[in-house]
Amino acid sequence: MPIAHRMRGIDSSGIRKAFDLARQLDHPIDLSIGQPDFDPPPEIIERAREALGGGFNRYTLTQGIEELRSEVRQYLREKKGFDPEEVIITSGAAGGIMLAFLALVNPGERVAIPDPYFVIYKHLCTLVGGAPVYVDTYPDFALTAERLEKAIGKKSKLLIFNNPCNPTGALVRRDEMKAIAELAEKVGAVILSDEVYDFFTYDNAHESMGKHSDSALVLGGYSKTFGIPGWRIGYAAGPKKIIEEMVKLQQYSYVCAPSVLQHAVLGALDLDMHNKLDDYRKKRDMVYEGLRGSYACTKPGGAFYLFPGAPGGSGEAFVRKAIEKNLILVPGSVFSERDSHFRLSFAAPDEVLIRAIEVLRKLVA
Ligand SMILES: Cc1ncc(COP(=O)(O)O)c(C=O)c1O
Repeated sequence: MPIAHRMRGIDSSGIRKAFDLARQLDHPIDLSIGQPDFDPPPEIIERAREALGGGFNRYTLTQGIEELRSEVRQYLREKKGFDPEEVIITSGAAGGIMLAFLALVNPGERVAIPDPYFVIYKHLCTLVGGAPVYVDTYPDFALTAERLEKAIGKKSKLLIFNNPCNPTGALVRRDEMKAIAELAEKVGAVILSDEVYDFFTYDNAHESMGKHSDSALVLGGYSKTFGIPGWRIGYAAGPKKIIEEMVKLQQYSYVCAPSVLQHAVLGALDLDMHNKLDDYRKKRDMVYEGLRGSYACTKPGGAFYLFPGAPGGSGEAFVRKAIEKNLILVPGSVFSERDSHFRLSFAAPDEVLIRAIEVLRKLVA
């Protein structure tokens, strides 16, 4: 088939191999999943029911319904101290990230990607012909302005900032955020600040990069916080000039985020989700305490992942071993230029986590 050349650089074999193996398992212990294990709050489900019968079956404005944009703006202003120039509702944060890459990066331009990274940045960068510059954050996964500066030198078009980070769970320190914002200004880079895990921070409050940098494009969403990843509702907030270009692109691609579901999430940002956060903090503590004697791992400050070093040195080999014991993990090579670690998601019921810890301890005993 005459597939376009640009697809040659896009490889999904790492994650697919793990899932192909996993599909053969009977009742596996599955810690590969990057989505919450809880159901959405009943208020949201009720609103979705109402919205279904409410006649919202047509396209919405490309940039999203006015009420929702205004709620996002209010949330960012009141809870994050960030008053964005413009907001667009996107098809999940992932949809927004796609539009941002298309709108911002010319072929050959440098994109700083802290490594380990959420897998889509690398591939979208390749798709638009950008030149990824990986910023090594091993072994502690702390993203600092110094590490960034060393990697990018004097030039970069886009700087990816994912805080808290998937797959490491690392949360960037406040003083570093300021230093990173200053560095971005110095090198003339836009910061793409992916904040989809802003709700999941366990020890320190989350800060938006929007508060520190006027050029930050903040990506956020409803998927993780409210347990609705399949609804595909996210947003981008930041400089008007960038968002206007993203609106143009959305018009010619996604058209709009799902109409009924834009209505269904109205009011969601005011819901009290703290019970869920407390549950996830306990899960984080249980998994970290259960594994830290046996694995080299840093304690995640946010998100719902642990990224331990793989015994034996190869994440892929270790994940194959774990799968033999009915435990599904993701090799670190999916999220990194290295294959030395593995990712486990603790977004799973406690009894599943307890069984997983047992298997993981036996694997190194
Ligand atoms: C870091 C990061 N950004 C963005 C996304 C995509 O989120 P959404 O469901 O809002 O598209 C994910 C999902 O796993 C993620 O981990």
